[in-house]
Formats: sequence, structure tokens, C-alpha cells
Amino acid sequence: MAEQRQAIDSAQALSHYVGANSIHLVLLVTHVNPFLAFFFSARVLQSFDTEECKCYSATVKITLASMKGGVAKTTTAVHVAAYLAELGPTVLIDADPNNSACSWAKRGNLRFPVLPLLKAIGIGSQYEHIIVDTQARPKPEELRDLVEGCDLLIVPTTPDPLSLEGMMLTLSTLKRFGAENYRVLLTIVPPEPIPEGKIARQELEAVGIPLFKHTIRRLMAFQRAAADGVVVNEVRDRNARLAAMDYEYIAEESLAIVESRSRSVTAS
Ligand SMILES: Nc1ncnc2c1ncn2[C@@H]1O[C@H](COP(=O)(O)OP(=O)(O)OP(=O)(O)O)[C@@H](O)[C@H]1O
Ligand SMILES: [Mg+2]
Repeated sequence: MAEQRQAIDSAQALSHYVGANSIHLVLLVTHVNPFLAFFFSARVLQSFDTEECKCYSATVKITLASMKGGVAKTTTAVHVAAYLAELGPTVLIDADPNNSACSWAKRGNLRFPVLPLLKAIGIGSQYEHIIVDTQARPKPEELRDLVEGCDLLIVPTTPDPLSLEGMMLTLSTLKRFGAENYRVLLTIVPPEPIPEGKIARQELEAVGIPLFKHTIRRLMAFQRAAADGVVVNEVRDRNARLAAMDYEYIAEESLAIVESRSRSVTAS
């Protein structure tokens, strides 16, 4: 009941942005599926991102998604958000019903807000960066809404065959929708001289899969950070700084990708 009330409040707040005539549509979508409601709102807000209304154009939306579970979506969402929070107002939206990101925040102390999906409907203008963590195995139509509702979709994968298979499935679904605003991130990569990470990168590059230049190493420090509810450079671990740097590269590259895409859209 409380959730329904919250959904109606959120829909009313959203209607403020989309105009009074849209309230019924927003209410309908919100009741049917809060997940879709958020991405519906993201797409409506994007449609406001025009010459006349620049108020949302500064917001960078980055989403984590994959058809495979356990590939570091939440870990990536938390650390990219942590880095971006140093640059400007940032929120992490937990769109996973398992509430992994919210639980992470509750266990400890993150220096940016982490909101469950229902509390996030209609937010936007006050944040420069919105990071969205999602559940594993989204349905194809959910994946379409996710990719269309963001500037960059990060698809993490570990270098093992099962995970790579899940990533390829995710990419083939994205391609079906004509999406191009995604990048694959190799995560939990075992240390050299174990060759899996290098081999996976070579094979993916050979078939033209768009990859982040940097990979995320497999380091115990990340598991400690999740357990303590903090970001990795705050844990007592000799590799903590190294681990944090891995995600700094990814956050910087993400911003550069979004910027270059928006420049090419403006130019065309
Ligand atoms: N770079 C890393 N090195 C070592 N362990 C890691 C690393 N990244 C994530 N992990 C660990 O791997 C596990 C899965 O990570 P995470 O929860 O971020 O994945 P997920 O894709 O969000 O999973 P789910 O699909 O269940 O939501 C966690 O125990 C996490 O601490
Ligand atoms: Mg997760």
C-alpha cells in the first residue's frame, strides 16, 4: 500500500515534467511495472533535452546491465558513482529488486545517495550524473528501455566462457534494437601470468566488440569493500589504491565516450 502511494506520488511529480495530460499514462506505467516507469521517465526527460530546455542536458546517465549475473554490475556501479561524485552531484539508482546497491550503502558509508527505483522516479535535474544498477537477466524489452534511457550502457563480463556467452547474448539483443551506446567492460580479471584476460580481450577486439581500454583486476579488496559498505580505497588492503585506480580509468573513459557521442550527435 505504501509502495503504491509512493508510486502515485512519483507519477504526480513526473507529470509535472511531462504535462497534465500525461498523468494517466504515467500512473498506468508506474502501476504495471516500476522498472519500466523509471525508464519511461528517463526517456520523457530525454525528450525535453532540446534547444528550448537545456535543463537536463548536463545530466550523464550511465547504466549497468547484463544477461549474466555475478559479473560486477553492482561493484562497477558503486565505484563509477564514487568517482563521479567527486566531480559533481551524483546519484546511484538501485533498479535491482535484490537491492544490492542499497544494502551496500546501508552496511557502511557511501558519500553519494543510493536510491531504490521507486524513490528515483522523476529525479534528474539536480544531478550531473545518474548511475543505474540493474538486475541480471533483464527481458529483451527491458534491455531496450535500459539502453534507450541512458547515455552509456556498460556491459560487464568476466573473462570466463560462461560469462562471455552471457555478454554475447546481451550484445546480440542490443544490436537487434540498433543500440550503439554501449561498451563491454572486462571485470574480475585474474592477475598475470594467468592469460584469460589477455586472450578474452584479443578475441573480442578481433570481432569488433567495443571494449573499455582498461580492465578491472580480480582483487580481494573489492570483496572487502562490499562487505564493509564502503568504496575500495577505504578498505585496509595493500591493493586498495590499485583497485580504486582501475575504476577511475573506467569512469573517466565513460565520460569521454558520452562526450564524444554527444559531440557527434550535435554535429550530424
Ligand atoms: N574486481 C573484483 N575482484 C574480485 N571480486 C570482485 C570484483 N568485482 C566484483 N567482485 C565480487 O564478485 C561478486 C559479484 O559482484 P557484483 O555483486 O558486483 O556482481 P553483479 O553483476 O552485480 O551480481 P548480480 O547479478 O547478482 O547483481 C561479489 O562477491 C563481488 O564482491
Ligand atoms: Mg548486482
